[in-house]
Amino acid sequence: MSVINSSHREESVPAWGGGVSENNRFSYGYSSSRGKRASMEDFHDTLISKVEGVMVGLFGVFDGHGGSRAAVYVKQNLFKNLLGHPQFVTDTNLAIAETFKKTDQEYLKADNNQHRDAGSTASTAILVGDRLLVANVGDSRAVICIAGRAIALSIDHKPNRSDERQRIEKAGGVVMWSGTWRVGGVLAVSRAFGDRLLKKYVVAEPEIQEEPITSDVEFLVIASDGLWDVVSNQDAVTMVQNIPDPAEAAKTLTEEAYKKGSADNITCVVIRFHHIH
Ligand SMILES: *[C@@H]1O[C@H](CO)[C@@H](O)[C@H](O)[C@H]1NC(C)=O
Ligand SMILES: *[C@@H]1O[C@H](CO)[C@@H](O)[C@H](O)[C@H]1NC(C)=O
Repeated sequence: MSVINSSHREESVPAWGGGVSENNRFSYGYSSSRGKRASMEDFHDTLISKVEGVMVGLFGVFDGHGGSRAAVYVKQNLFKNLLGHPQFVTDTNLAIAETFKKTDQEYLKADNNQHRDAGSTASTAILVGDRLLVANVGDSRAVICIAGRAIALSIDHKPNRSDERQRIEKAGGVVMWSGTWRVGGVLAVSRAFGDRLLKKYVVAEPEIQEEPITSDVEFLVIASDGLWDVVSNQDAVTMVQNIPDPAEAAKTLTEEAYKKGSADNITCVVIRFHHIH
């Protein structure tokens, strides 16, 4: 059911593809401008499954820092762990919170490279039957399009967010200016997977937001800051609102960010909801 088009020839050409859910309730697409593979720190994951007879869709963008180790680990384990949580269907919020924490702890245990600290964001959309939950750690972002209007479903975990700064300072940490606001003068996100040396302050506790999938909900965009640094929420939504194929939409967003001079890795996932009227 899924089509994959990828090219390694040109750095600006993204790897992209997509698929459709079995019941045709939604379709999804992804695009990642990976360029030279060795230096790529952005990853994504898309998974459609059935748990206890309920249709489940899991989508995530993982933006690594300090190397790709943490982002790769989160991609390989987060959704697997979530599906394996005994209360995933009955208490999804609890399952998400516990799984994020457990996956972070297991990564820190498994990562034996003590020389350099790696970390990763995780912006995830979790569809369980008719429910949509967005769970976020870090500064990748999920934005939904409702009747043409962009609404962010996550608030970036930046160290200078007043509640984040307070949380960090309460734990004994500091937020300092070094080109931008950074935890301990080092890290420009206030929550992340990994980052062992800053773990007391840089937690992997997700903020979770639930959005009802009403008939005016058109699509959802999840992307790394490589997109959001150069394209506003509303511009992104407007740009792809009339592109029915979410893989084309994701590719268009990635290419636009690249054209606008984004220096960072750019990864986009688009999920389009099909409403049967
Ligand atoms: C990805 O990001 C890393 C570090 O932020 C950078 O060194 C690398 O060139 C980027 N790769 C692409 C394909 O943009
Ligand atoms: C955090 O600092 C950046 C500049 O690095 C600024 O653009 C942003 O508005 C600040 N955010 C808050 C919540 O103060």
